[in-house]
Amino acid sequence: MYCVRNVTEDLYWVGANDHRLALFENAYPIPRGVSYNSYLLTDEKTVLFDTVDWSGCRQLLENMAHVLDGRPLDYLVINHLEPDHAGSIEEILLRWPKVTIISNEKAFMLMRQFGFDVDSHQIVEVKEGDTFSFGKHVVTFVFAPMVHWPEVMVTFDTTNGVLFSADAFGSFGALDGKLFADEVNFDRDWLDDARRYLTNIVGKYGPHIRLILKKAGGILDQIKFICPLHGPVWRKDLLYFIQKYDLWGRYEPEQKGILMVYASMYGNTESAMQALASKLCDKGMTNIAMYDVSSTDVSQLISEVFKYSHMVLASVTYNLGIYPAMHNFLIDMKALNVQNRTIALVENGSWAIKSGDLIQKFLSEEMKNMTVLNERISIASSLHADKESELESLADAILDSMQ
Ligand code: FEO
Repeated sequence: MYCVRNVTEDLYWVGANDHRLALFENAYPIPRGVSYNSYLLTDEKTVLFDTVDWSGCRQLLENMAHVLDGRPLDYLVINHLEPDHAGSIEEILLRWPKVTIISNEKAFMLMRQFGFDVDSHQIVEVKEGDTFSFGKHVVTFVFAPMVHWPEVMVTFDTTNGVLFSADAFGSFGALDGKLFADEVNFDRDWLDDARRYLTNIVGKYGPHIRLILKKAGGILDQIKFICPLHGPVWRKDLLYFIQKYDLWGRYEPEQKGILMVYASMYGNTESAMQALASKLCDKGMTNIAMYDVSSTDVSQLISEVFKYSHMVLASVTYNLGIYPAMHNFLIDMKALNVQNRTIALVENGSWAIKSGDLIQKFLSEEMKNMTVLNERISIASSLHADKESELESLADAILDSMQ
């Protein structure tokens, strides 16, 4: 059965939802599913903006057949070549061999690399700022390299103010009918997954996010819709989401609060973190999120790192090193360019306690602009009541650093 929705009177969402995929990019858990958004414009010419993952191809074709209602497909605009969007290009070319593909030089190179037979079709290679008319609608192409791949561009329809934003402004989560962000409680139900999506996938490229925001800033008053390749379409309160992107792209936290992440083998390090959290709450700081690094997917931890201003990292010492799951979290933070955070450390070990020094060295030498508080709690196997004053001092030091 076809499943389409109007974005505007002549622009349709014709994508597909996927609740069967367990790991996006075979890496990130997506318990709420994901959508592959594709959009079909029915102007004097018909235009498909991006395709869908191969798994959603049949749904895309059924949706297109319904909207086209016997008309041919005249143009295929490709903004992004990652296979979760480009996976159905080959099938589109087989079904509509006379279609003209519009994209840029790097994208055409990638199409050839992926084995799509673009050279036996009409192609239009566009450059930054080029415009193209489909009849009533005139679009312009704006390059957005590394948001998320080097070939990425966004397409702006100057006639109706629709920005086809590629991966930018996307989110994990299947739509399940609710196409528009104003049809869901985005802040409550979607923001965490939108942040998890963006920060894990494009977090490394903050400067590139800022660049596309700068370009969008020049035409902000003309943008009426943001149509990303995943997740809801934005037609109201666009600034809410743009401002989140601005923070994430600058590695600035959304909230003053504390992310507490612990690596605990037998519960003693966890117990110390619970005691510290209680002290912080006693002193009035209740905006705390605590996670066990061993049982929390690192993509969720990364999302939380981008949300909160402060962190407490607590780790046992393992093989004279940092506990592997905590080490992996640190490596992921570094890979995603996390910076501008204040961190307190708690270390544990039954002999040769090393984890605190090693984490501090990693944060100071391998990452940028990370402030590590001088106060640190060092636990020999388990925290005893005689360390109460140290716990107190650490809580005070964290709170002082939040002023
Ligand atoms: Fe959703 Fe970079 O692809």
